[in-house]
Amino acid sequence: MILAFDDDGPGPVVVLLHGFPLDRSMWAHQRSSVGALYRVISPDLRGHGESAAPDGIYPVDAMADDVIETLDALQLDGPLVVGGLSMGGYVALSIALRHPDRVRALMLMNTRSAADSPEAARAREEQAGQVEASGDVEPVVARMLPDLFARSTFEAHPELVARVHHQMARTPARAVAGTLRGLAIRPDRTVDLPRIAVPTLVIAGAEDRLIPVEESERLARGIPKARLVTIPDAGHLAPLENHEPTDAAILEFLKSLW
Ligand code: MLT
Repeated sequence: MILAFDDDGPGPVVVLLHGFPLDRSMWAHQRSSVGALYRVISPDLRGHGESAAPDGIYPVDAMADDVIETLDALQLDGPLVVGGLSMGGYVALSIALRHPDRVRALMLMNTRSAADSPEAARAREEQAGQVEASGDVEPVVARMLPDLFARSTFEAHPELVARVHHQMARTPARAVAGTLRGLAIRPDRTVDLPRIAVPTLVIAGAEDRLIPVEESERLARGIPKARLVTIPDAGHLAPLENHEPTDAAILEFLKSLW
């Protein structure tokens, strides 16, 4: 599937993949900061934003293949920097392991290599069933929202929380259900991490309650050429919650590549 995307800036290409159930608008800061020096391509993954929302399950590997198809359509068939946040990180890992010739470097933000536990997978299936039956995504969104942000973000940036809430609630019910089911069956990629040969930046949010810093430390230890940067005053959405140090870490990493 060819995805909707933004395409900003000059220079080497950096692909940025959003989390669930967000869309490419989450990269607004990076489109201007990183986009001043690099060509930032930020797609809406299937079912999200302006991309098509097919029926059925959305496996992470199918989402990854959509990204490759979209890059092919842009005739970008060489190795690129690929980055993703949370679900976008699962997709970036899938690309790095299944299409290694397409990846020059990797950026894994607020994400993990592990699969869902059986309980987490069951909970996702249950939520998918509820969303499908009711056609209402709000219960899933309301359940996720308290865990997405650092306490300081709730206090200092309520407008950001409201914007993200609004954006998540726009994702169609069948896309939320299809993605929940796809995430529930994603493979555990932990044993594959040593195969990733490219430079990798791992970004953690110091107050991420969904993916604690220790899990990001384990991810970084598993990849031979990885470095870890922990962003203060940030929860699960570091590039949105505290974009200045996140952008600085990204730009420093990119500069080290060329
Ligand atoms: C995300 O932010 O993309 C989600 O938290 C990923 C997940 O639910 O595993």
